[in-house]
Amino acid sequence: MAGSSGFPSSYDPSKYYDPEIQTVHEPARVIFEEYSKIPNERIVSHINETRKRAFAVTPYPCIGLFRFLELDLHRMSIYPEILERIKSGDKFLDLGCALGQELRHLVYDGAPSTNLYGCDLTPDLFNVGYDLFNDRATLQSQFIISDIFNNNSELVTNFIGHFSIINTMSFFHLFTWNQQIVIAKRIITLLRPQPGSLLVGRQVGKVRHSEGPEPEGSLIGYYHNEESWKSMWRVVGRETRTRWAVDVVGEKWGETASEEILRLVREQGQIKIRFVVRRE
Ligand SMILES: C[S@@+](CC[C@H](N)C(=O)[O-])C[C@H]1O[C@@H](n2cnc3c(N)ncnc32)[C@H](O)[C@@H]1O
Repeated sequence: MAGSSGFPSSYDPSKYYDPEIQTVHEPARVIFEEYSKIPNERIVSHINETRKRAFAVTPYPCIGLFRFLELDLHRMSIYPEILERIKSGDKFLDLGCALGQELRHLVYDGAPSTNLYGCDLTPDLFNVGYDLFNDRATLQSQFIISDIFNNNSELVTNFIGHFSIINTMSFFHLFTWNQQIVIAKRIITLLRPQPGSLLVGRQVGKVRHSEGPEPEGSLIGYYHNEESWKSMWRVVGRETRTRWAVDVVGEKWGETASEEILRLVREQGQIKIRFVVRRE
């Protein structure tokens, strides 16, 4: 489990560093071409070079395995609603945004960047993100450096009740059940306290949810399945006296997943969990 204190000493980043890519698939390609205006023949080398820098900042599998090229939010059926709401003024936070690829995709699709926010632990990731997407001079989104567990962070000081939509991709699964409850409660305070406020996202789960500590070196704190995710939100709702409609689906990983992920799918029953949690 990574948490706020960094990576466990038994974590082996080399298992999560794929060989350089040779091609970039849609829709990422069109973003680098049309949004970032990187010349076509430079896109692949630009991404390989920037991935190397980002992995040196923080060696998460999502960076080493190029998962930041697998844009995912637009695959959810709620995406048109999210886009429309941001265009109408709703504020969207990508919590644990790392390089901020989903924010760039939203801007490419017409969302005003002033309504978009990213939050992560270190400004170094935001800086590599600007270089990756070549938008330091144009993107007007705000990047907030905060640890989600810190009660005195910028996020808590300046953004309570500020957002209508929060996105977390590959985030909750880093933390234990108890930590996830703390995070869910924090998210509730960051969202506007009204019906329709939304948490959306995706994370790694398992067909059978976690029953014990994860093996040495794992970054995962707790694997949910659909039932355990709903049950966590029942606890959170009860303890915060709020009501949440939870829509969650477990999916197989796509065939584009890396060898290491496909091994975990085969041997451990890993799945991808997508969720929409809406305040009632
Ligand atoms: C596995 S990465 C996922 C990044 C991105 N959402 C994606 O899907 O590509 C998790 C991110 O959460 C950030 N993170 C970890 N612990 C955090 C904390 N306590 N508060 C805020 N961000 C945190 C990490 O720095 C990292 O960028």
